[in-house]
Amino acid sequence: METAKESRPATASDAAHGPRKREAFATGLGVLAATIGSAVGLGNIWKFPGMTGQNGGAAFVIVYLVCTVLVGLPVMISEQMLGRRARKDAVNTLRELAPRRQPWWLIGAAGGLAAFLIMAFYSEVAGWVFAYVYKSVSGSILSTDPATNSAVFGDLTGSAWEALFWQWLVLAWVGVIIMMGVAKGIERVTKRLLPLLLLLLIIVCVRSVTLDGAGDGISFLLKPDFSKVTGAVVLAAMGLAFFKLSVGMGTMITYGSYFKDEQNIPMTATRVMLADLSVSLLAGLAIFPAVFAFGFDVDAGPSLLFITIPAVFASMPGGDFFVVVFFVLTAIAATGAMLSIVEVPVAFLSEQFRMSRKVATLLTLGLLAIVGAPAALSMGELSDVTIFGKTFFDLYDYASSNVLLPLGGMFMCLFVGWVWGFDKVKRALSNDGKLNNSRAITVFFTLVKYVTPLLVLLVLLDGLNII
Ligand code: TRP
Repeated sequence: METAKESRPATASDAAHGPRKREAFATGLGVLAATIGSAVGLGNIWKFPGMTGQNGGAAFVIVYLVCTVLVGLPVMISEQMLGRRARKDAVNTLRELAPRRQPWWLIGAAGGLAAFLIMAFYSEVAGWVFAYVYKSVSGSILSTDPATNSAVFGDLTGSAWEALFWQWLVLAWVGVIIMMGVAKGIERVTKRLLPLLLLLLIIVCVRSVTLDGAGDGISFLLKPDFSKVTGAVVLAAMGLAFFKLSVGMGTMITYGSYFKDEQNIPMTATRVMLADLSVSLLAGLAIFPAVFAFGFDVDAGPSLLFITIPAVFASMPGGDFFVVVFFVLTAIAATGAMLSIVEVPVAFLSEQFRMSRKVATLLTLGLLAIVGAPAALSMGELSDVTIFGKTFFDLYDYASSNVLLPLGGMFMCLFVGWVWGFDKVKRALSNDGKLNNSRAITVFFTLVKYVTPLLVLLVLLDGLNII
């Protein structure tokens, strides 16, 4: 059970790029923990339930599962494979592995943009979680009355100063951790506390499904009604699959570059996917039965987590205590995910421009404070300002999950399937013949060459109303 990163001996290519020490995960379990730490976050506890509620329940969940297996997983395997081969940041990995003068590194550049857009709204939602930790310690936020719970959340998101304060606090918190270079520390913390989050989620689930009137919520999650599934809904589900597995923008390339040579990548990626799905489904079971039992709005979207979870805790003994623990654990899960987002531009800036990690971090977070502010103010001062009919918050979310990540993922598949080719893939994924997994590799390669890119393209064109 060791997750510490250890520095790898310098190689010739390190020397060519200056004295940058590259880190590597020490053990297979460490790799798994760190990768799950990136995948599991607000996506499971906030985004998945919010979107499932807005898009009609079970049918959306099924489309999301299909996208996760046919799109998310192949892209994750591709990214980790490329990153481990090149052992560089996302942009330079693609630059190095591509034939001369083919601009595949642009995928990495688009990923950098996606990282900023995602962090801009993610840090705000994380800010709300931090605020709820504070509020639940300092005075009770527990009530089973929908009106009271919505009012508490509305006051928080509607006040410019509160919204900005919590977002900047989160950015500072992430900055401090990244700068201290204690990836070690956060990995240890995440690894120990994620199981605790899982345990607490199970407790909340049990409470939620045993409430009077919970049955409607359970059937909402289990009985599909495909009449609500439009092209836009399928695109949203696919975007969520990308977002959830942290793929399409280079996070998994960056993490793959820290993997060990012996790591079984297809197996690791599959385990990460299964762990991530379990957390999402548990979060759904914690939230929906309570939504129906207490008569909340199932399509509340982004506010769903913040109005139902306090209600579930309000209805159980010791709720005052558990609600604090719940939001603390959520804050920790969100932190692990944010570190993996910010790591992408920070690794690029420091590798490309030989900046110190500290300067790269300050630059990234300074920019984020500027780009993020309009998202923070989207539910208050700037709620009337819309672009393409969306607030800044929604626009950042939509442009990253529904456009940039799918495009990035599609081009990565095309690169692996058509440029890199089967022989290199086979060598990379079988660890130079040491693993006996040729069946899995063949399935993966067929997906990545034909199925996944075509699927992404069709869903994109249909979801964006181009066809
Ligand atoms: N997967 C994380 C979550 O669900 C968010 C995340 C972390 C992410 N790194 C990413 C999303 C990279 C897209 C790309 O909360």
